[in-house]
Amino acid sequence: MESDKRLTFPLLMSVGTAVLGSLQFGYNTGVINAPQNVIERFINTTWEQRYNEPITKGSLTAIWSIAVAIFSVGGIFGSFSVGLFVNRFGRRNSMLMANVLSFISAAFMGFSKLASSWEMLIIGRFILGLYSGLSTGFVPMYVGEVSPTALRGALGTLHQLGIVVGILIAQVFGLEAVMGNDDLWPLLLSFIFVFAIIQCILLPMCPMSPRFLLINRNEENKAKNVLKKLRGVSDVSADIKEMKEESRKMMSEPKVTLVELFRSHRYRQPLVVAVVLQLSQQLSGINAVFYYSTRIFERAGVAQPKYATIGAGVVNTAFTVVSVFVVERAGRRSLHLIGLLGMAGATILMTIALALLEKLPWMSYLSIVAIFSYVAFFEIGPGPIPWFIVAELFSQGPRPAAIAVAGFSNWTANFIVGMGFQYIEELTYPYVFVIFTVLLLFFFVFTYFKVPETKGRTFDDIAAGFGGNSAVRGEKFSPEELNSLGADSQL
Ligand code: GLC
Repeated sequence: MESDKRLTFPLLMSVGTAVLGSLQFGYNTGVINAPQNVIERFINTTWEQRYNEPITKGSLTAIWSIAVAIFSVGGIFGSFSVGLFVNRFGRRNSMLMANVLSFISAAFMGFSKLASSWEMLIIGRFILGLYSGLSTGFVPMYVGEVSPTALRGALGTLHQLGIVVGILIAQVFGLEAVMGNDDLWPLLLSFIFVFAIIQCILLPMCPMSPRFLLINRNEENKAKNVLKKLRGVSDVSADIKEMKEESRKMMSEPKVTLVELFRSHRYRQPLVVAVVLQLSQQLSGINAVFYYSTRIFERAGVAQPKYATIGAGVVNTAFTVVSVFVVERAGRRSLHLIGLLGMAGATILMTIALALLEKLPWMSYLSIVAIFSYVAFFEIGPGPIPWFIVAELFSQGPRPAAIAVAGFSNWTANFIVGMGFQYIEELTYPYVFVIFTVLLLFFFVFTYFKVPETKGRTFDDIAAGFGGNSAVRGEKFSPEELNSLGADSQL
């Protein structure tokens, strides 16, 4: 079908605007890495003003860790609440509304210095977490639903691209010469309001999700008009037919709540796949690098750790771009497998580098190579794919609940790595990365045996493969199907 791969302006604009939400999430992930010392100084000064004595090391670490980690606690709550919004207000309007949280948190953090209150900083980070948790549900869902089947992977990867660009911007802005200094750090933390304003201006010009209009609201004419714009063709009957088919099958189970999602046998397999894929993304240890890279490089003997961190951010972005271009050709499953295996190799290299550092000082270069390739392999598959594949594994009915569960798993694992890494590092140094090697190999085996290829298949077809529509297919994925170049099955 000619229209299938057409990248129209309305489609690009909708996806581009949506991923401004991903950009905010990434920015918040990366922003606390560089200015740690500067903000700790502020906490200390505030403490002295209040209590007339300097803060103890223990209290300072506690306040700082809470400020860092409360972000993922907010993310856990936010991601779990996705279902409360998307069916009531629609995907686009939910994204629009979430920006309120962005503005509130920017205000809390931006004025925390003026008010001499580190509590405001913590509250701001929590609200930001809420926002980011919601975004990691809203954005992939909206992008998956506006994209034509043949471009769903490439456009879905733009969510991850938004995240990594956000991280990179934050790393650069966090340099002392830019905003990571005593005067400007409140602006550095609250800068997200700029992205939020741009998104608020652009979103009302973007269409609502045609699937939401047709399947949830039964507004066929509106859905058709939106599709015509998005696809750039006047005949959208094939899309409409496919959605109606999905909608018809959904009638037997119109709305799937969280409880039903867990109870129903037909969702068990895709749910396990979705959750384990999220875990594979976070328990690969990636955020140990994005939260603590400067410190990791420092301990590995790297002379300019902050610049090495920015280097990791650049490699991260470059390989996400690579993924955007190959994901529709190579498929999700193979890229995820390659990524996990490559990361496992990189963690072994890193372990060698750390273990031999004392004897061979040039090992610090090996650790840079190891971390850069670790990040590169992450972005080939484990970074982008788990985010959008959940929207692919479930049809319209269970999708919001499934995305909430997947997001919850992702954020919980994010929290565990963020909080636990430093402690485990102390206990196991220099072998800390071996834990990730083991986990990565486990996820590789799981993906090999359990994860089906979704490339080029309609949502409905994927659900059927899981036995979701047993009346239609009545079978699970066969070994060939696990590997199949799904596009063929559609012809
Ligand atoms: C993924 C992860 C996120 C991580 C980022 C790094 O989006 O979900 O936690 O920080 O990749 O690029």
